Amino acid sequence: MEVVIAAPDVLARLAAEAIEQLLRGRPDTVLGLATGSSPLAVYDELVRRHLEDGLSFAEASAYNLDEYVGLPADHPQRYRNVIEHDFTGRVDFAPGAVHGPDGLAEDLPAACVAYEAEMAAAGGVDLQIMGIGTDGHIAFNEPGSSLASRTRIKTLTDQTRADNARFFDGDVKQVPQHCLTQGLGTVMEARHIVLVATGRAKADAVHQLVEGPVSAMWPATILQHHPHVSVLIDNAAASRLQLADYFRSTYAAKPDWQGL
Ligand code: GLP
Repeated sequence: MEVVIAAPDVLARLAAEAIEQLLRGRPDTVLGLATGSSPLAVYDELVRRHLEDGLSFAEASAYNLDEYVGLPADHPQRYRNVIEHDFTGRVDFAPGAVHGPDGLAEDLPAACVAYEAEMAAAGGVDLQIMGIGTDGHIAFNEPGSSLASRTRIKTLTDQTRADNARFFDGDVKQVPQHCLTQGLGTVMEARHIVLVATGRAKADAVHQLVEGPVSAMWPATILQHHPHVSVLIDNAAASRLQLADYFRSTYAAKPDWQGL
């Protein structure tokens, strides 16, 4: 696990650079995408590189981490629409190249199985970009999630619904209770995971992720078992890390040729 503590714009450039390297080497890269505010600066940087430097996503595909259950197809907070608005609709993904769990399926368990099969058939995710919830959830794997879980239906915690109410006119009652989410076991199969977290509200979750014991109580801690994770955080999100000085000096001494 590499921890980089830097200003948000530097973090966004680092993540975008890792994605650009992949795409330049192999245009049919499979990206894992996430909603939430954390990846937005990364998406903006990728859009800038698309518009100014010709970075193309035309042969790439993408798989979203999660989706609310039951939001109408045209609802602005349906995650497929959010991803399209925030990122994929602003670059040149081919029609049908961006996928997500189907929160409107009649048979939700079957839709979850189908989504796993679709990802596997695509060869799996090369790079997964993600954020972290204040309760340590990744994707929508809330505390108590099986560390080996696969894509499935989950019930959101009150804390997550309250955190996300800002996207629903501040009204927690409008936030769906259920979601479909890639499981922790699913997420762990991505070949490189880039987690972005900024702000004081994430400091506890980041401390647990990096320095806590691996536990279903803080689902993100499963990433300690992954061989290639980049944790990109600002000073506020790093404020509870015991090893912050070590991470800062390690990054300062990092050879220029070494990417994430
Ligand atoms: C949501 C998403 C997660 C995201 C989390 C944090 O619950 N399902 O994928 O990591 O929120 O969101 P934000 O980055 O806005 O703090």
